[in-house]
Amino acid sequence: MSGVRTSRSLGGRGGLASRLLLAQVLVLGASVVTAGAVAALFGPPLFHEHLLEAGQAPDSPQLAHIEQAYRDASLVSLAVALVIALACAAAVTWYVTRRMQAPLDALANAAREVSRGHFGARVGPLGAGTEFDELGHAFNLMARQLEQTEDTRRRLLSDLAHELRTPIATLTVYCEGLRDGVTTWNADTERVMTEQTERLARLAADLDDVSRAEEGRLALDLSPTPVPELIWSAAEARREAFARQGVELHVRPDAAPDVHVEADPRRIGQVLDNLLANALRHTPRGGAVQLSARAVHDAVEIVVADTGDGMSADQLPHVFERFYRGDTARDRDRGGSGLGLTISRAIADAHRGSLVASSAGPGEGSTFTLTLPCA
Ligand SMILES: Nc1ncnc2c1ncn2[C@@H]1O[C@H](COP(=O)(O)OP(=O)(O)OP(=O)(O)O)[C@@H](O)[C@H]1O
Ligand SMILES: [Mg+2]
Repeated sequence: MSGVRTSRSLGGRGGLASRLLLAQVLVLGASVVTAGAVAALFGPPLFHEHLLEAGQAPDSPQLAHIEQAYRDASLVSLAVALVIALACAAAVTWYVTRRMQAPLDALANAAREVSRGHFGARVGPLGAGTEFDELGHAFNLMARQLEQTEDTRRRLLSDLAHELRTPIATLTVYCEGLRDGVTTWNADTERVMTEQTERLARLAADLDDVSRAEEGRLALDLSPTPVPELIWSAAEARREAFARQGVELHVRPDAAPDVHVEADPRRIGQVLDNLLANALRHTPRGGAVQLSARAVHDAVEIVVADTGDGMSADQLPHVFERFYRGDTARDRDRGGSGLGLTISRAIADAHRGSLVASSAGPGEGSTFTLTLPCA
């Protein structure tokens, strides 16, 4: 069906074949008219002159015969040449359009598949020259990009629905209980309902951050900021939580004492807070977390290293993905949405820095390194 449609466009009016044939006919027409005009204008006087030089009398009947023969021969050769050239043009047009038919069909079919939402459609080697191969390659790249975008969109929507389900279900149960008189309003009810609404509000804020970061709209309020100040304020904000859970927090900014970075202190505080919260969540009582800084060339490395759960080689490449949460009991139990590291990395990138994770394996602790260029 589609092949028929393509061949019509190649052969029909305004199609490639008719355009190609028309172009060749125009070239042929111009050549024949030029050859005929030259032969008619310059041929007879030249012929006449040579015949007179050869001794023919100007009014002899032979002269008139020979000149007539010249005109007839010119006319016949032009007519025969035109017919053969037209036949060749038709043959060339047929051959060229036939060679282009299959690759154009393949491309048109694949494009139609993509337009119907089948993003897995690809074209194979087209075998009709480098230009067609490049076109096929570009088409495949475009289809792959569309497929990835569609995958991400689908995954994002399903992850989002999943994240919304738990708090909404909990709030629904409590609201129904209160309405039916099964649950009474007390400190516990208040705590649960506040926790769940806060979780929804945080999810909305995190999603806003992620979409801003992905569109490159993360507004930064940059100023030269001393590194120890960033580190101490992040540590202070979490110190109590560490003490409560019996995890030691060591702060060592001494390897970058007077260094300033060009940073948005609030955003970098958000990154460090997420790294410290993750480290605390994944470090059992009695363990330790170290927050340190060191100057390297024209950048500063801020390192959060813990002695906790660690991460497997399978887990490491995914921790910065949206909504990714490890499968440990700790990850399942708490209310995090798995957006923290996605946002943290986007903030690091927006500062023209980087955030990387490493771990020697499960049970061996984890290290997160935030690199920021010096002011
Ligand atoms: N210090 C760490 N030790 C072991 N695993 C970690 C550590 N930090 C992060 N991870 C793993 O990376 C996952 C993603 O972390 P991320 O901060 O993005 O999300 P979260 O902490 O689960 O949720 P959120 O930060 O949105 O509240 C975690 O669920 C955990 O599996
Ligand atoms: Mg987190």
